[in-house]
Amino acid sequence: MKILVAMALAAPAYAGLRFPCSTLTVQRLDPVVEPGAIPAAHVHHIVGGNAFNATMEGDVGERATCTTCQMAEDFSNYWTAALYYYHRANNSYHRVPVIPVQPLLGGSQGAAAGLTVYYTQFDLSRDNLARQRVTAFKPGFRMTVGNPGATSSPRVGLRYQCLSGQSRGREMPDFPTAPCSGGIFTTHHFPACWDGKNLDAPDHQAHMYNTVASDGFVNAPACPASHPVRMPQVAYETVWDTREFNKLWKTGEPNPFVWSFEGTKGYGTHADYMFGWKGDSLQRAMDKSECFYDGCGSIKKQAMSEANKCAIKQTVHEEVEGWLPALPGQAKA
Ligand SMILES: *[C@@H]1O[C@H](CO)[C@@H](O)[C@H](O)[C@H]1NC(C)=O
Ligand SMILES: *[C@@H]1O[C@H](CO)[C@@H](O)[C@H](O)[C@H]1NC(C)=O
Repeated sequence: MKILVAMALAAPAYAGLRFPCSTLTVQRLDPVVEPGAIPAAHVHHIVGGNAFNATMEGDVGERATCTTCQMAEDFSNYWTAALYYYHRANNSYHRVPVIPVQPLLGGSQGAAAGLTVYYTQFDLSRDNLARQRVTAFKPGFRMTVGNPGATSSPRVGLRYQCLSGQSRGREMPDFPTAPCSGGIFTTHHFPACWDGKNLDAPDHQAHMYNTVASDGFVNAPACPASHPVRMPQVAYETVWDTREFNKLWKTGEPNPFVWSFEGTKGYGTHADYMFGWKGDSLQRAMDKSECFYDGCGSIKKQAMSEANKCAIKQTVHEEVEGWLPALPGQAKA
């Protein structure tokens, strides 16, 4: 009994970083998968530093001058496909807006839309630094997770949840099949083991290895010999505000939400990562034990009101909002 009371009173320990990043831009650019393409194949929802461009080489953290992320030294870019609502009644599409994630700790701190980024060292409540050092990514590093062409259940960690009140519901490999009163929550977990050599790979994935076999913020087991370097476990959480479309979704109709690449529906969910922390700032944060959300004073934060001022110009001039007769760049369904 005594033990139970002590456990209940003990403040929970957290390890890793969790912070909001506001939306930077929504457009058809993808400097990882389609460098130089203006426009790229499909629309992305992008957050992070203002060095974001169709082509991104070298040390992004040295080139950017502002970031939409709360961590002021993080000029990385984080993006996923954008979500659209497909209105069967008149064969048109509307982009689903994003609202900030409200984590249990700290709230969204005034973020404007965007997504929440995690860099965990072991799992959500512990670090593993005494046993295995976490090595920060190097300038020029990039990776993707998931595949827009996937036609069956994506790997673990790429999941959907149906938000309703305070409940997130269970994690699912595909879109919910009925309206979610609080929107659709998506999670994208990246692999955490690096080959120690390549900043990228032809498929943007082979230089990383996934040791995680279950959903959630779980420990990545020891890295294999082929990919021996333990990196931070990066994850994105996004809340797609489907509320204004729920009333248009007629009972009995299949899921009307589509990613901006359409085609394979929910299984094709994917995310891209472009490393851009300045200098050794990410390494400093990862070297701190039992450190959550604020970097334990080891890295600089900015007010989200400041982060929200960071902006870039639109490179691809086309309509991606409003009711559209087709998804930008996609042949008419
Ligand atoms: C983006 O790339 C174009 C060339 O394609 C260049 O003129 C421009 O300065 C770049 N912007 C940034 C922010 O790097
Ligand atoms: C399709 O339906 C939506 C929702 O009712 C409406 O706002 C939009 O104008 C319609 N688009 C066309 C092309 O009729």
